[in-house]
Amino acid sequence: MRIASLPDFLLQRIDRATGQPVNRQIYQVLREAILSHQLPVGLQLPSSRELASELAMSRNTVTHAYEQLIAEGYLETRTGAGTFIADTVPDQITEAGPDSLSAGEQDIHGGLSTRGRQLVTRAGVSPVQWGAFMPGVPDVTQFPNKVWSRLQNKHWRRSRAELLTYDNGGGYLPLREAIAEYLRVARSVNCSASQVIITTGIHQSIDLAAKLLGEHGDQAWVEEPCYWGTRSICHSLGIEPVPIAVDAEGMQMQQTDLIPAAAPPRFIFVTPSHQYPLGTIMSLSRRRQLLEYAAAHKAWIVEDDYDSEFRYGSRPLPSLQGLDTHERVLYMGTFSKTTFPGLRIGYLVVPQALSQPFSTGHSELYRGGQIFLQAILADFMSEGYFASHIRRMRLLYGERLRLLQQAIERHFDKVIDFSDGDAGLHLALHLPSCCDDVAISNEALAAGIITRPLSGYYMQAENARRGLMLGYACVPEEHIGPAFDKLAGIIRKHLPQLTPPA
Ligand SMILES: Cc1ncc(COP(=O)(O)O)c(C=O)c1O
Repeated sequence: MRIASLPDFLLQRIDRATGQPVNRQIYQVLREAILSHQLPVGLQLPSSRELASELAMSRNTVTHAYEQLIAEGYLETRTGAGTFIADTVPDQITEAGPDSLSAGEQDIHGGLSTRGRQLVTRAGVSPVQWGAFMPGVPDVTQFPNKVWSRLQNKHWRRSRAELLTYDNGGGYLPLREAIAEYLRVARSVNCSASQVIITTGIHQSIDLAAKLLGEHGDQAWVEEPCYWGTRSICHSLGIEPVPIAVDAEGMQMQQTDLIPAAAPPRFIFVTPSHQYPLGTIMSLSRRRQLLEYAAAHKAWIVEDDYDSEFRYGSRPLPSLQGLDTHERVLYMGTFSKTTFPGLRIGYLVVPQALSQPFSTGHSELYRGGQIFLQAILADFMSEGYFASHIRRMRLLYGERLRLLQQAIERHFDKVIDFSDGDAGLHLALHLPSCCDDVAISNEALAAGIITRPLSGYYMQAENARRGLMLGYACVPEEHIGPAFDKLAGIIRKHLPQLTPPA
């Protein structure tokens, strides 16, 4: 089929009278056409904007269909190029059974399910987790391990059996109390200890919330761009992430008017304190709009407050959860940035009515433990070490941010800009749209510099801004300048003609 006829082909097959959502119909028609080879492998599809305009439909309708096909492996996006029919057809493979896979296909897919293939082919995790400029990683070498080891020895000496057995749900009570106290004071979160569920981090908190509150086939609004982990977990549970653009005030709620009111999402995932990855702070009016929407449509807001402890200028706005009067917000935090990521301890604060089901659900799903570690962390917090470590790191990371900003300005002043929100552990360096940020990032990695391409955080290739995420917290001061010099050399090769930003 020639691409010019695709809108006609779809229009002949879409029947609004059936009552089936149009995005679902587009998805099914395209899927069947791919499986029957009416649409050949490698064919480029029109952008969602073009197709929506040809079909006289909202762009979100087309985007949802494309996203589902991408998620299932029928379509693939190539950064800067567009959307294409993928050269693997998942259902044909699974329907025919693993025996019919060619040796090459078996090597590539290794018997993975459609979900498994999707997860690994779109994986967001970086191959290296330490060094300049690894985003999102604190300086673990600064962690006060002598204090930790003293607290740990104290618990070993006592060696109580209840610290060494399984968790019976929710986590170690003194830690839940210490976290509730900290969140009330530092983040204006309304909570008691019983509402705090200890998890192995934000990934597990999202997984737990999505499993206990979501159904297969639900939709979740996610920020565009958004944290890759949120998308991966949603996809893995059959929950469709729907990208909603962000601007300087956060998630653009007016965009959601384009989404049929009949289908409000089950979840709305947001990073209001420090948008991930762009660094903006959600304005008060957007926060109110979001809370009103969630209350009116019975949607769950999942607030990811992953790094708000680190602000170098203004004080952080209080949490979104603290403004909520309808019990629609689940608040997530982590010790990955404030202590060390390998600790794998985070927390989920749920409305009171959900606290018991969530602690039972947590045990059923993950058979929790690590009570011993939780006991050490509880002491670390209640004896004041946590607060003083954060204070010390805030000064250190603030200085490292300043050094990185200076290095960027030294090389690219008024040519390339960056956003950081004056907070967190990373900044986003913006590149002109003609730049292939994936290629730059790969080249940098080969030269020993870790970066993440900004375009990788977008679900819609045509909207993706180009840039690099640069973490500075784990880079010693004396390495920041030389490492950026090396990176700047690589960036320059991709920018033959530098032009100042408008
Ligand atoms: C926005 C965001 N959420 C969650 C996480 C992961 O948190 P955790 O280590 O608790 O799973 C990260 C890690 O970088 C992040 O950037």
